[in-house]
Amino acid sequence: MTDRLAGRLIALGVTGSIAAYKAIELLRLLTADGADVVVMLSPSATRFVGPLSFAALSRHPVETEILDLLPDGRIGHVVIADTADALVVAPATAHWLGSMAAGLAGDVVTATCLATSAPVIAAPAMDGDMWTHPATRANVQRLRSDFGYIVVEPESGPLASGQSGVGRLADLGSIVDAVVEATRDRPVRQPDEAARPPLSTGPIRDSDLVGRHLVVTAGGTREPIDPVRFIGNRSTGRMGVAVAEAALDRGARVTLIVADTDVPLPTDRAHLIRVETTGELRAALLGALFGGDAPPAEARFDALVMAAAVSDFTPAHPAERKIGREAGLTLELQATPDLLAEAGRIAHGLDSGGAETRARVTPRPVLVGFAAETGSLGRAAAKLARKGVDLLVVNDVSEPGSGFGTDTNRVEVLGAAGDRTALPLLSKREVADRLLDRIAEMLDSRDAEAQTAAMHEPPR
Ligand code: CTP
Repeated sequence: MTDRLAGRLIALGVTGSIAAYKAIELLRLLTADGADVVVMLSPSATRFVGPLSFAALSRHPVETEILDLLPDGRIGHVVIADTADALVVAPATAHWLGSMAAGLAGDVVTATCLATSAPVIAAPAMDGDMWTHPATRANVQRLRSDFGYIVVEPESGPLASGQSGVGRLADLGSIVDAVVEATRDRPVRQPDEAARPPLSTGPIRDSDLVGRHLVVTAGGTREPIDPVRFIGNRSTGRMGVAVAEAALDRGARVTLIVADTDVPLPTDRAHLIRVETTGELRAALLGALFGGDAPPAEARFDALVMAAAVSDFTPAHPAERKIGREAGLTLELQATPDLLAEAGRIAHGLDSGGAETRARVTPRPVLVGFAAETGSLGRAAAKLARKGVDLLVVNDVSEPGSGFGTDTNRVEVLGAAGDRTALPLLSKREVADRLLDRIAEMLDSRDAEAQTAAMHEPPR
């Protein structure tokens, strides 16, 4: 996988040709090259391919109606025209070439092309005689020389009519190359996802965690100094609660262990455990994951998302009575246990020294940690390894719009294989969904691998 289109929004316009089904693969290729893709279907394209596959793969609602407004009242095709880095029309029919050449904005694909200043790439597909007709030749010529469009010429081969000739949609790789080429030296037009076409909500992701048990921790722990004072931190619990809510919306069973938080909790949907101190969090966590700190043979959970801000220190001798101010105060602090690392060790069958002394928990759960850093994110890879997690979500809390008390977050997701995915500034709910996309995918491939392994097991 390359990322020649990383950070870019590409609008894919599909018109009514038999080759419309190939646009699904084209969408996949553009996405594999890092693009955020939004799809527009002309009315005749919808007779060949439905919007559902495009919506599922692009994660954006598909634009089919020129007059449709977005939920927030913006005009869909104008938002696309204003934010896309390039428009690619593939397959482009003879009818679409004619409408475009004449500037007739009768469908959403043509209207968006008319309204944009982004480069347009058209990949025609049609019958051989239609391609060579003087009308088509003139239209293509006008698109090229008057509009500056890039036309990726069709290829020769068997056509839908049963005949052979020039008219087949060009090789999809060469269409992607043309998009890369057209955008190469241009800055990303609209890096802010909020200004781009909205992402799908609901139906696409709504059931990919059915049957999964997720344990999520959220909020900041409080370590008592005396009955009225504590050591706390700035965490509000928003990120962890967003993960829990998104997971519930996608069908998961969720155990939410919450320390101090100031956001409403999904009390009637999640199994909620309230804790205050790191000690209480440890007991609740190991109980939910393993039924205690003894390793079980079978996992009781599919994924742990450890978003709680766990205090690293706790007063060594909390006072039973309120400490008066007369004598002054010097606190002796002791380090708390690293709960995530401990959960990781138990899940992976390791003892506290890192030796494999017992069986791994099966099926293998997915472990996710969060790391709030200030300034450099350089320590994160070592932290991921130290804690034995599959994913570490790292953010720089000193950056505006990121971290404690904000509704947004800009994070980088590190994978155990050394991969890094930098997400743009997103709402915490969207960060949660992106993370759950990864978790759902990892759980699905875990199960697929287990099934394949079971099929190859020798008969007993
Ligand atoms: N964490 C934990 N137990 C602790 C401290 C942290 O389980 N005692 C978890 C957090 O919930 C988070 C991850 O570990 O998911 C990383 O937290 P962070 O505070 O960044 O890591 P630390 O191990 O405390 O490292 P440092 O303080 O050196 O940055």
